[in-house]
Amino acid sequence: MSADKVFHSRSAGIPSEGVKDQYADGKAARAWNKFIGDSNERTQNYKDFLIGLLRKNGCERILDIACGTGIDSMMLVDEGFKLVSVDASDKMLKHALKARWDKRKDHKYDEWIIEEANWETLPRDINSFLPGTLFDAVICLGNSFAHLLDEHGDQRVQKMCLRNFAQCLKPGGILFIDHRNYDAMIDSGATPGHSIYYNCKYPVDIKTSVLVVGGTPELVALDYCIDTTTDGEDSERSEFRLCYYPHKLKSFTEMLDEAFDNNASHEIYADFKPLDQVRVPAFYIHVMKKHT
Ligand SMILES: C[S@@+](CC[C@H](N)C(=O)[O-])C[C@H]1O[C@@H](n2cnc3c(N)ncnc32)[C@H](O)[C@@H]1O
Repeated sequence: MSADKVFHSRSAGIPSEGVKDQYADGKAARAWNKFIGDSNERTQNYKDFLIGLLRKNGCERILDIACGTGIDSMMLVDEGFKLVSVDASDKMLKHALKARWDKRKDHKYDEWIIEEANWETLPRDINSFLPGTLFDAVICLGNSFAHLLDEHGDQRVQKMCLRNFAQCLKPGGILFIDHRNYDAMIDSGATPGHSIYYNCKYPVDIKTSVLVVGGTPELVALDYCIDTTTDGEDSERSEFRLCYYPHKLKSFTEMLDEAFDNNASHEIYADFKPLDQVRVPAFYIHVMKKHT
């Protein structure tokens, strides 16, 4: 980027102050909904991995802290888990609330709780509608945590949020949290167009920009272009930008351990497989088990 160009870290229409909701213009939320499809379009690897580990650990009550349009939560409700789903973006929650309304005749969905909450105040937010509730598992998936940028340069807000996540778990409870392989993205300057989570039926192009400040990569911007023109009347070319903090595997692993007082078991998977089985994964998934 030449020096006389201005770098915009958000799509046009997203305010620079107030709640840092990168989906606030509604357009990204709509496009995201198309990108991920419905819960039937979740990849089998993802379903087997998440549902397998939840069942193996006897988890029943799950808190989805980045529920977005509700897709992961619905997959779990369908499998019989009890879900509390929260997100900071009302534009994303609008899709989740509509999905719950559409399922109102399906009794599995009677107890699905959807509320607004922010990671920065998560235990307090949850306590306001479910006093004293702790969860068997907390999930923060789909590269969600990287939405939280580092305004102070010392990751203090990210660290606080990770502690908040740990606080929402019962003793022995499990946190599932992931991030893209930013180590590889920084090296190559590219992002895989396919997702390990979704079977997106549209052509997707993702342009990657890495912002380096003082020699340190501080932000990765992804420009998504999703071509739905094959959908007839409902068609559009959706373009939106999302910005992420580029978590490196080593430093994220350490930050996560600290959030659990270096007292939790910590397993890391590459694209849902053991680390040594995937040479350059698209995602790393961390599974933390809180001490009992
Ligand atoms: C990429 S979406 C993922 C949603 C869903 N898990 C999926 O895979 O489709 C990330 C979500 O994280 C939410 N988010 C970002 N920062 C947040 C915060 N500080 N508190 C709560 N939610 C937040 C966004 O609003 C967005 O809905």
